[in-house]
Amino acid sequence: MSAALSFTHIPNPTPTPAAEREALLAQGGFGTVFSDHMVTIEWSQDKGWHKAEVRKREPFLLDPAAAVLHYAQEIFEGMKAYRTPEGKITLFRPDQNARRFNLSAERMAMPTLPEETFLEAVELLVQTDKDWIPGGNGSLYLRPFMFASEAFLGVRPAHHYTFCVIASPVGDYFKGGAKPVSVWVSTEYTRASQGGTGAAKCGGNYAASLVAQAEAYDNGCDQVVFLDAAEHRWIEELGGMNVFFVLEDGSLLTTPLAGTILPGITRASLLELARARGLKVEERRYSFEEWQADARSGKIKEAFACGTAAVVAAIGEVRYAGGSFKIADGQTGPLTESLREELTGIQRGRVADTRGWARPVAI
Ligand code: PLP
Ligand code: COI
Repeated sequence: MSAALSFTHIPNPTPTPAAEREALLAQGGFGTVFSDHMVTIEWSQDKGWHKAEVRKREPFLLDPAAAVLHYAQEIFEGMKAYRTPEGKITLFRPDQNARRFNLSAERMAMPTLPEETFLEAVELLVQTDKDWIPGGNGSLYLRPFMFASEAFLGVRPAHHYTFCVIASPVGDYFKGGAKPVSVWVSTEYTRASQGGTGAAKCGGNYAASLVAQAEAYDNGCDQVVFLDAAEHRWIEELGGMNVFFVLEDGSLLTTPLAGTILPGITRASLLELARARGLKVEERRYSFEEWQADARSGKIKEAFACGTAAVVAAIGEVRYAGGSFKIADGQTGPLTESLREELTGIQRGRVADTRGWARPVAI
């Protein structure tokens, strides 16, 4: 059924005038500007996936009883399209997003979308709105998502879903740009527990994280760090990023995928790049106690956050209810810098892509 899915193209009759678009593209920042089109595909029990359209970006007409508004049956992805120095357009490992999207769908009792349909939807939107890819260090952030659009208040997996992709030209995720970020370790709130939805990219995980993220802002920090739910001891990840540590022997450490953290595509890519350099790389549990002791003794040389939106951001300072500490001198360390350079180089076509990670979009 889905192999035969073909997209209807209904161009936006009133696209943003070029001068206005250029002014919007110059704004930078994250998630406030949107392109002219979106992709939508509907799913129902009787028809499966149908009504695939590329059309004007506009508000949804949503029944107030739509299940997503009550029980939060919703998942999403985040990926970026880049313009290379030769003027080509690429997506970074979009097959990984397609695969993770379906793992999230399974966890949330939602229908899966054939990977080729997910990729086609994203590519069609990039092709249609290619003029919205900013120059310089910017990129076009793509947000595929799916929600329960059935009007029904009974608690069960919905019988109707809407898949959508929107696009947003973005610059830096953090206000301070490439400056090191500060993080707040939440010792009160946790994000996910064993058997829960921590490894799925569902909106509910983020809703649950916001009170801790607000606490981080109140304490002058950019992001929250979550500890595990069972012991409130082991570092898991940040509100919207994975976390890495660089030890004094030059080795790289990150927290393991134990079902409670998001399996980041940036995380997996950095692990592969670091291993290819011959670095010692460990995926193991690391406690907040150890982090404090290692920062004070100088054993920790660098720490960084990573994800699609944030790319690679050095962590300069750590705060928590009982105090604060710096990571080394609080500046971006050399390994953080060189991994960021290599990864962004591959993403933007400045560094040879020997792994086939950059997928060209036909234009
Ligand atoms: N962890 C969380 C909670 C996230 O929201 C993200 C961002 O998508 C990541 C980690 C990093 O994942 P990725 O590198 O695939 O963007
Ligand atoms: C992403 O990096 O794509 C995310 O979804 C994380 C969020 C902080 C925007």
